[in-house]
Amino acid sequence: MKKVFKILGLVSLTIVVGVIGFLTYLKVALPNIPVKDIKVEITPERIERGKYLAYHVSLCMDCHSTRIWTEFSGPYQPGTEGKGGEVFNHDLGFPGTYVAKNITPAGIKDWTDGEIYRAITSGVNRTGDPLFPVMPYLYYNKMDTEDIYSIIAFIRTLKPIENKLPASVPDFPLNFIMHTIPKPAEPTPKPNPSDKVAYGAYLCNASGCKECHTKSDNRGNKLPGMDFAGGFEFKLPGGIVRSTNLTPDPEGQLISYTRETFIEKFKAYSDSTQIHQKVAPGEFNTPMPWTMYAGMNAEDLGAIYDYLKTVKPVKNVVEKFTPTK
Ligand code: HEC
Ligand code: HEC
Repeated sequence: MKKVFKILGLVSLTIVVGVIGFLTYLKVALPNIPVKDIKVEITPERIERGKYLAYHVSLCMDCHSTRIWTEFSGPYQPGTEGKGGEVFNHDLGFPGTYVAKNITPAGIKDWTDGEIYRAITSGVNRTGDPLFPVMPYLYYNKMDTEDIYSIIAFIRTLKPIENKLPASVPDFPLNFIMHTIPKPAEPTPKPNPSDKVAYGAYLCNASGCKECHTKSDNRGNKLPGMDFAGGFEFKLPGGIVRSTNLTPDPEGQLISYTRETFIEKFKAYSDSTQIHQKVAPGEFNTPMPWTMYAGMNAEDLGAIYDYLKTVKPVKNVVEKFTPTK
């Protein structure tokens, strides 16, 4: 009997040592993404393109500025561009507490261009640790290298704002799993804008529409076959808001738009009187970044519409808003 206990003891010890060894391996050895040796030249063209992408397409300035959540769609507070501090935590349904970082020169001036490139496209910070993918690096991963260089050139020109921020704290087991998510950049060339569907697909990826408009399981994996079908839930103070079905299904929302009304719906929020609309507690508000996307030009919004019309129609009827009782 004693022998049996001894063997069992040895077996469990081996398992424990094995598990600790494996977890240590994950933490120490991964992610293993080298830093590119690059110097991004700052040109007026790059600053202009980078500014457009950072504000209106890839929305860096949406998450990395102070958001006013008492107003419709949470527009950013002017004067806070890039200073970071927005928190994604359990209250919002995230597995941990993730703090958007200071990406003004006060936060990242010592980073090399290669380190910034790696953070944006692979989700690895300067010390080699993984970022939680609420920072949409899995989408930026596929963007044209020149577009990423433009974003880097632009954020280098932001007004430096001192803002020391707390570290992000992932929940177990995410603190381990996160180490396996980063992957090397897989850039795709930007399609010719005259090829509307291909260009729209590129922009749709660069602007992360799929992230919010596709349901996930409780571990954050997108449900297969549900691309763009909506139903992703956001817990806001006023109630639960769900993203809408953007596939061309007859019961989805896309079908209610023509190309023109789709563009107009976004453009309506570029009007300065529409940007700062107060929302009373308990009223409908939305995480859909209307006021940021509103600055996309009409051709780009039109291309996104053309692309969405070609995605697989999926049946999924969504109740957009359930107010808190
Ligand atoms: C949906 C919100 C969101 C968007 C959009 C977003 N980020 Fe982030 N970003 C974050 C969060 C949150 C973190 C911190 C993640 C963590 O600590 O695990 C982060 C981290 C970073 C870091 C690492 C900084 C550091 O000090 O470790 C850089 C650099 C960065 N983001 C740049 C960008 C750029 C450039 C863009 C646009 C191309 C962008 N982000 C878009 C949320 C976002
Ligand atoms: C941060 C999450 C988020 C992102 C990113 C996002 N959406 Fe949304 N979207 C939502 C939510 C939630 C709603 C439902 C509430 C509302 O109408 O504002 C919505 C609503 C919409 C609607 C309105 C449909 C209707 O009911 O008439 C359209 C159109 C739309 N999104 C298109 C897009 C496109 C195109 C993109 C990418 C360029 C995108 N969304 C990116 C969260 C998001």
